[in-house]
Amino acid sequence: MKVSIILGTRPEIIKFSPIIFEFERLGLDYFIVHSGQHYSYSMDRVFFEQLGLPDAKYNLEVGSGSHAFQTGRILMGVEEVLMHERPDVVLVQGDTNTTLAGALAAVKLHIPVGHVEAGLRSFDRSMPEEINRLLADHCSDLLFAPTEISRRNLLREGISDEKIYVTGNTVVDALFRNLRIAEHRRGILERLGLEKHEFFLVTVHRQENVDDRFRFSKILRGLELVNERFGLPVIYPIHPRAAKRMREFNLKPKGLRLVEPLDYLSFLLLEKYARLVFTDSGGVQEETCIMRVPCVTLRYNTERPETLEVGSNVLAGVEPKAIVEKAELMLERRPDWPNPFGDGRASERIVKILNEELA
Ligand code: UD1
Ligand code: UDP
Repeated sequence: MKVSIILGTRPEIIKFSPIIFEFERLGLDYFIVHSGQHYSYSMDRVFFEQLGLPDAKYNLEVGSGSHAFQTGRILMGVEEVLMHERPDVVLVQGDTNTTLAGALAAVKLHIPVGHVEAGLRSFDRSMPEEINRLLADHCSDLLFAPTEISRRNLLREGISDEKIYVTGNTVVDALFRNLRIAEHRRGILERLGLEKHEFFLVTVHRQENVDDRFRFSKILRGLELVNERFGLPVIYPIHPRAAKRMREFNLKPKGLRLVEPLDYLSFLLLEKYARLVFTDSGGVQEETCIMRVPCVTLRYNTERPETLEVGSNVLAGVEPKAIVEKAELMLERRPDWPNPFGDGRASERIVKILNEELA
């Protein structure tokens, strides 16, 4: 069995990492294709170095651009690699432009596609991620759904039960493995002068939130009010898309501490010791739920309803007043919910299924 892993963004590198280690452990034949969608050191290379991942065999160096430009260039690049390498299966993860282009290139070459983190749905088709995950699922032969909810989403769309495997989410595997290591490297709290449980953590990067000046301003205003209301530092490791928009819109929020995007271990530690996390990230909604840290999501919907069901997360939207109110609500909540995303052995299951199905 020869496997091609296609990745290109921060969350894909993190969530693929335990699968890559499982391939290494079993000595299986695989190679990595990096689309180059993320390329800044702090969005890409730092994760390979810190996690000890092998280098990609191919880097398509696609870079940034419009959706069609980026997706199209990845599609062409992946096609060329796959025609040359002829793997037995192509693995994609999540919902980015890299995911969609990788799945589409493979299915058209009649190479089976495995989609890791299949079946998530926000039911909001204005989000680029929703289109990407829907189409990637419908190109796939093996759908690795993290939970029963995601499995049911796929069944509802007519995808055959035989193709679906509920495995848990590899985000848990990565977190369990790395939180232990992070705990020994507490430098980040000192470096930022933070006391455990005495600060808030923020990540906001989603296109619909930061590319719209009015909406981004409202979110930042909400976070300013949070800082005023609770008197705790608000730390915002800022994604390059958001940083660019903040400059462009000339937004200068007061009371927020903007820092560069962080390495994974430092970020995990900040999440773990934050009093509360404000986010529009998918991965961060999951990680806070797993670590039992309350989360306020700055969106009107989520493709991670499990977090709402267990009570780790609440949807605040983007109105300043609502952001403060939801923060008050979540600060009252006892963090004793169960982890709905699996036992940390999703990668093991996924690789075992691949081995069996392709034998
Ligand atoms: C992408 C994914 C999103 C995911 C996010 C993870 C799509 C449609 N979106 O969004 O689902 O949540 O990655 O972080 O695939 N930039 C840099 N350096 C980089 C990468 C990007 O400066 O290494 C800047 C560029 O100005 C670029 C902008 O960020 O135009 C957006 O990058 P892009 O990859 O298009 O989308 P993300 O917002 O990162
Ligand atoms: N992350 C990180 N450093 C940061 C912010 C996030 O290492 O400064 C990690 C985080 O732990 C999670 C992943 O990046 O595993 C989430 O990625 P992102 O929010 O960019 O994408 P999404 O999950 O929304 O697709």
